[in-house]
Amino acid sequence: MFELEESLKPWVKGLKPYVPGEMVEGKLKLASNENGYGASPKVVERVREAASRIHVYPYKDAVVQRKIAQYTGVDAKNIVLGNGSDELITLLITAFRGPVLGQHPSFAEYRLVSQILGQEYVEAPLDAGFSFNVEAYLEKKKEANLFFLCNPNNPTGTKIKRKDLIRVLNEGKPTVVDEAYAEFMNQDSVELLASYDNLIVLRTFAKSFGLAGLRLGYSISSPEIADALKKVKPPFNVNVLAQEAALAALDDIEYMRQSVSEIKKQRQTLFMEIAKKYRPTESWANFILFDVSPKKAGDVYQRLFEEGVIVRCFGEFKGFRGQYLRVTVGTRKQNQKFIEALKKT
Ligand SMILES: Cc1ncc(COP(=O)(O)O)c(C=O)c1O
Repeated sequence: MFELEESLKPWVKGLKPYVPGEMVEGKLKLASNENGYGASPKVVERVREAASRIHVYPYKDAVVQRKIAQYTGVDAKNIVLGNGSDELITLLITAFRGPVLGQHPSFAEYRLVSQILGQEYVEAPLDAGFSFNVEAYLEKKKEANLFFLCNPNNPTGTKIKRKDLIRVLNEGKPTVVDEAYAEFMNQDSVELLASYDNLIVLRTFAKSFGLAGLRLGYSISSPEIADALKKVKPPFNVNVLAQEAALAALDDIEYMRQSVSEIKKQRQTLFMEIAKKYRPTESWANFILFDVSPKKAGDVYQRLFEEGVIVRCFGEFKGFRGQYLRVTVGTRKQNQKFIEALKKT
């Protein structure tokens, strides 16, 4: 008789599948940090054209790598493409020895992927205001072989000071700096690659470029680390349409810059509006975390849902005070709808 549990790896039974932000027809979803302005119309056009070539395997990896290298100011051999930056997180934890060290609260995937791959995951708390606590992080350094930092950090939106980042890099462990939201912040770590061959920067087309649905991310690292990642990468992991979309998006960087600039302005307005009622955390990304205590986050979430707006509900962060929700900064119109809904909570 076939016994499923006996055949599975022992830790798989206890895993919980990732639950994506809720999507309900007719409601405004501001839960997954997508770009409400969408992709450039030129990208959409290029994807349409590329539909005639979906019967062939993807063949433009090298062209996309070169184009990304130009955009980020590095060499093509520093770039590895992933099916979303999510996949690169998996490739990194596959290739490098654990345990893995992250921050708390931070992006849930680092823990989830570590668990899936049977790697121990340890975390260091942020300080009470959600700033990076370099002392607390380095206290855990002996327990880990692979460091993850998220800058700006999801879900808090807070950023890491350059000098703190350098202190972590000086430890000489492989250090991933997840910059999924880099374009919304006025700082990135790419130039540190010249001095730190243990640095791996992660980026995505899902947020600023508005291509979440096509799944395309990339890592920037030393050529040696890039080669190691390619050894554990599935073939053809980035599809034909995503490759074409990336090329078109990078041909129209101005469109992305304009939507990012508008979102940054809107972030300011949204912050002030939320602050009239609750306690928002200053954000360097395209979302804002806010504390609704003494109300329960679940109750405020529900009320917003009834008003037609879906945000992300975190509730309590273990070890922290407060009740938290996160809202994506959308278009001007979307944010207005959210603000009206928030007034009714
Ligand atoms: C910090 C962070 N890293 C990575 C990702 C994954 O992005 P992608 O869509 O490129 O897989 C996200 C998505 O929300 C994120 O917030």
